[in-house]
Amino acid sequence: MQEHTVLFVDDEVNILKALQRLLRNEPMQVLTASRPQEAIGLLESTPAQVVVSDQRMPEMSGVDFLSTVRERHPDMVRMMLTGYTEMNIAVDAINKGEIYRLITKPWNDDELKATLRQAFDHYDLKGEIKRLNQVTREQNFKLQDMNRNLETKVRERTKQLAAKHQELRTAYIQTIGALAEAIDAKDAYTRGHSERVAVYSSRLAREMGLRKEMIERIYFAGLLHDVGKIGIPDAIITKPDRLTEEEYLEIQKHPEIGAKILEPVEFLGSVVPCVRHHHEWFDGSDRGYPDRLRGDKIPLPSRVILVCDTVEAMTSDRPYRKALPLETVVRELHKYSGSQFDPQCVDAFLRLLDRDGDEFISKDQKFDIYAFIGS
Ligand SMILES: [Fe+2]
Ligand SMILES: [Fe+2]
Repeated sequence: MQEHTVLFVDDEVNILKALQRLLRNEPMQVLTASRPQEAIGLLESTPAQVVVSDQRMPEMSGVDFLSTVRERHPDMVRMMLTGYTEMNIAVDAINKGEIYRLITKPWNDDELKATLRQAFDHYDLKGEIKRLNQVTREQNFKLQDMNRNLETKVRERTKQLAAKHQELRTAYIQTIGALAEAIDAKDAYTRGHSERVAVYSSRLAREMGLRKEMIERIYFAGLLHDVGKIGIPDAIITKPDRLTEEEYLEIQKHPEIGAKILEPVEFLGSVVPCVRHHHEWFDGSDRGYPDRLRGDKIPLPSRVILVCDTVEAMTSDRPYRKALPLETVVRELHKYSGSQFDPQCVDAFLRLLDRDGDEFISKDQKFDIYAFIGS
């Protein structure tokens, strides 16, 4: 238990002696002073929790003394020990909040002891409240600090995760892109085909005013559109002559095979249908495959890719013919607009050709999709 100390101040030494006697066996230390100045000095060196003062003293009144104590030691519990003649002064002091209680002379021993116990309890309680407030304040500060740190950490981790995610996507796409490239490279005539289709498609998509995410999706779908050719025998893919009926049916399986290859890759989910349908005809006729979808039932990226796929193939050398001139390409696009091709894609493509001409199909162009869409 904490040591309790009470200081009595009274100019009558007999009273001080009586009080000391009374409290000899109580669990508290008792200090006495017969002059207020002495008491003030004593409190500087020996802290007390409770100060009890007489009112009428020669050098200084009890009220003045206790208000000095209040200034110097605001936490000390102040009480007054006074005769009936100074009652009104003491009551006034209580009302002004200067003192905690009043003890009247002559006092009742038990009441005095009880009052002292209450005063110590009051002191302890105030101290405890103060301590708890302090702890709460400190914890609040700590919490605010932790919150701030946490927010910063979460922001940083989110950024790192997004970067990691992007890195993984890029790595994965490069891997699959490399696969597509390897398939294109099986045949000297189709080398670089997928990459060029991806680049043309991205440009066409932007010309059509599509959103960034859509352009990105179209780029990936362009890179991967022929990945299913991995499942077609080399002899058919690299065959220099025109294909037989059976061989043509075989090669028509590549969009489905491609979709199956990409299906398990979660983040390519939106690319899968684009790959599956890149040979559908806009009119839904059976010249398209595999599902003979029609119009806007065909994913927009597939429609964009089909135009670019055709343009890329026509403007590249083939074993049985040289690259065709742009006029032929334009004629062909016009001819099949609305049947094979989405007219909206054809129109946008013709605008691009009008603007860029031969430049558009020049090979070996450096292209970075993220620089292109600006992110
Ligand atoms: Fe294809
Ligand atoms: Fe293709």
